[in-house]
Amino acid sequence: VTIDAILLVGGEGTRLRPLTLTTPKPMLPVAGVPLVAHQLARARDAGIDHVVLATSYKAELFEAAFGDGSAMGLELEYVTEVEPLGTGGGIRNVLDRLRAAPEDPVAVFNGDVLSAHDLSEQIRVHVAGGAAVTLHLSEVSDPRAYGCVPTDPTGRVTDFLEKTPDPVTNRINAGCYVFRRAVIDSIPAGRPVSVERETFPALLAEGALLLGFLDAGYWLDLGTPEAFVQGSRDMVRGVIGSSALTGEPGDSLVLDGASVAPDAAVVGGSCVGVGARVGPGAVVDGSVLFAGAFVDAGATVRDSAVGRDAVVGTDALVEGAVLGDGAHLGSGNELLRGARLWPSAVIADRSLRFSPGP
Ligand code: GTP
Repeated sequence: VTIDAILLVGGEGTRLRPLTLTTPKPMLPVAGVPLVAHQLARARDAGIDHVVLATSYKAELFEAAFGDGSAMGLELEYVTEVEPLGTGGGIRNVLDRLRAAPEDPVAVFNGDVLSAHDLSEQIRVHVAGGAAVTLHLSEVSDPRAYGCVPTDPTGRVTDFLEKTPDPVTNRINAGCYVFRRAVIDSIPAGRPVSVERETFPALLAEGALLLGFLDAGYWLDLGTPEAFVQGSRDMVRGVIGSSALTGEPGDSLVLDGASVAPDAAVVGGSCVGVGARVGPGAVVDGSVLFAGAFVDAGATVRDSAVGRDAVVGTDALVEGAVLGDGAHLGSGNELLRGARLWPSAVIADRSLRFSPGP
């Protein structure tokens, strides 16, 4: 049997700016491979063979990267929203591409999550329970930024509390759903709809059966720069696996055509992108260097993302910060604590510090 999946990849990824000004969040490199490639591999490994990508923001980049999907052993289709329709609207908008019969399951993924949960088991639980929708739930230490999803002892969802300051449970909506196809038919067409704010609360109010599928596997929402860098680091180290990776987990991943000076240190799960360079005596720790990035001699980059072709000058310090594509941080500067340098911005040598300096 063919199992359909929908991958939601149309968001602007505002929290990840400036990286997402040039690259949509689902296309950001995680251990050197676009985040979506990991999700597609996971879907394929769970027996899914047909995936519709619901695109909007920078839509053309997805088809350019993945084509018809045959290289991954999948059949891929792309549907682009002229005006972004939100998560529910994006799902409804691809209805005519689904092959599932009305009672069949359709898997739906947010395109910004790194997850090792057991999707095959989630589909099985959904079908066995006869649910309208089965939601993957993950337990997190701070649920306030997520949809909080309490369930009764049978797994039935009893409430859906989007981003509440006072969560009643630490089980949250992990952004992977199995829908009965007929439920997708019932989402209103042609206007923006949020599944989190509209569809799920309405289904609950109607008395529909929503099941929670709790899974303790690795789960991370890569919505912020810190989380994005952590996700890449975890995958380089093998904390989460992916069949989209080649090679073995380790302390660092240096991609083809990259160069690292013999006395430089690339550690802590760092990934050095295609054609990127790390100069003599530099330290790159727990960070992501995009393709063509350059970390010059004596510089230190920790827990940070350095965008495509961006430059970290000699002896500069970058910690917990982001350089957009083509940004240039001159020699001897410091960029710390959540600072974000916009694409192509230039900081002159020795002109920005977070400390008195020498
Ligand atoms: P932020 O702006 O930082 O909140 O990120 P985002 O735009 O990606 O929003 P959010 O993280 O809430 O989105 C969850 C998932 O739904 C992501 O994979 C988005 O790509 C996707 N998504 C969000 N809005 C839309 C939309 O209007 N259309 C489609 N097709 N996908 C969307």
